Amino acid sequence: MAKPLRIGLVGYGFMGRAHSNAYRQVNQFFELEHRPVMAAACARNEAKLKAFADNWGWESTETDWRRLIDRPDIDAIDIGSPNNTHSEIALAAAAAGKMVLCEKPLAMDGAEARRMTQAVEQASVPNFVWFNYRRVPAIALARQVVQEGRIGRPFHYRAQYLQDWTISPDLPLGGATLWRLDADVAGSGVSGDLVAHSIDTAMWLNGPITSVTGMTEIFVKERALQDDPSQTKAVTIDDACQFMCRFGNGSLGLFESTRYARGRKNYNTLELNGEKASVYFDLEDPHRLQYYDHGDVGHLHGWRGIHVTGFEHPYMKNWWVPGCTIGYEHTFINSLADFLKGLETGVPSAPTFRDALHTQLVLDAVLESARTGSWIDIDYAD
Ligand SMILES: NC(=O)c1ccc[n+]([C@@H]2O[C@H](COP(=O)([O-])OP(=O)(O)OC[C@H]3O[C@@H](n4cnc5c(N)ncnc54)[C@H](O)[C@@H]3O)[C@@H](O)[C@H]2O)c1
Repeated sequence: MAKPLRIGLVGYGFMGRAHSNAYRQVNQFFELEHRPVMAAACARNEAKLKAFADNWGWESTETDWRRLIDRPDIDAIDIGSPNNTHSEIALAAAAAGKMVLCEKPLAMDGAEARRMTQAVEQASVPNFVWFNYRRVPAIALARQVVQEGRIGRPFHYRAQYLQDWTISPDLPLGGATLWRLDADVAGSGVSGDLVAHSIDTAMWLNGPITSVTGMTEIFVKERALQDDPSQTKAVTIDDACQFMCRFGNGSLGLFESTRYARGRKNYNTLELNGEKASVYFDLEDPHRLQYYDHGDVGHLHGWRGIHVTGFEHPYMKNWWVPGCTIGYEHTFINSLADFLKGLETGVPSAPTFRDALHTQLVLDAVLESARTGSWIDIDYAD
């Protein structure tokens, strides 16, 4: 009989749905010692929250996250609310001795991420950040290929994360749905929202980034407020962010992210080029890992598209038969399964808060470089 793990979820938006779906399904597809119990969902709008809880099967609701944390029947707090709420909730949860799962970016900036990391480590509570793209089977296979030494000496890492939904100057900012455009709530723009994913994946595949130089741009400098269209607010988030970097292993990195790439909806790509081989991934073709192996016989040299759906591929033996695909939502189920396995084995599943702190320090350095126009070395030490 699996051990119940009683979850308190904060936020019923996009991630509230993705996480709820993961809690409902994880034990159906993974053999685990723990069984998440959907004990309580929390958000401020009671009527919408109740409808959400009924739809997804949450046992109870709370309209104040402090009450959720005070409840003795909750083992783990899962933070799926906007970025400016993460720190206060995580600090209180750690102080109450609860496990903490948190959405990315971990914090508004590196200093806040450091305080959160110290809090969960001092409280010795299991902690985890939902950088879900690590759990795309094709990206996990890319990591396996690197770990097996097939790439050889790495030379170049390249990542793009492009969207197009903020191009219209008529789009307002703030409020319940457009908080990503408000620096007071989001902390930063595409850097925290999109580049954070690219950096997490990059450092997982290719090791730590040691120095950066970047630039950012705000294309629409002022927008009406969503909650009061007669008022405007200066836009201070980064609409676009590009940076170059050096990795500790001697390779060079190039990252680009924007919400102004017309036609690109959630275009998330990566490529790693080494002496012996290269890998390439594109989230719009999520089941394929492109692989080029210089060791192939010369007349057969070429990129091969590996359809990552076999039983021998990461995560796929838990799903359907070879050739059948899984989707975006499964990356959250795979993430949750790994977190629960970490509880079982005592080997914490990454990314922990400390891993996400490192990503946040790279983001801080990119934004500082964009302000100062200089190269910034990254100091990961506490
Ligand atoms: N892992 C990913 O790929 C991914 C994707 C999207 C969003 N995110 C992250 O997830 C978090 C939430 O994003 P989203 O897209 O789900 O946002 P959303 O706007 O869809 O939902 C946010 C939810 O938080 C609730 N909320 C806001 N303030 C609150 C408070 N003080 N107390 C309780 N509830 C509160 C809102 O009512 C809403 O239910 C963000 O940190 C975001 O960066 C991660």
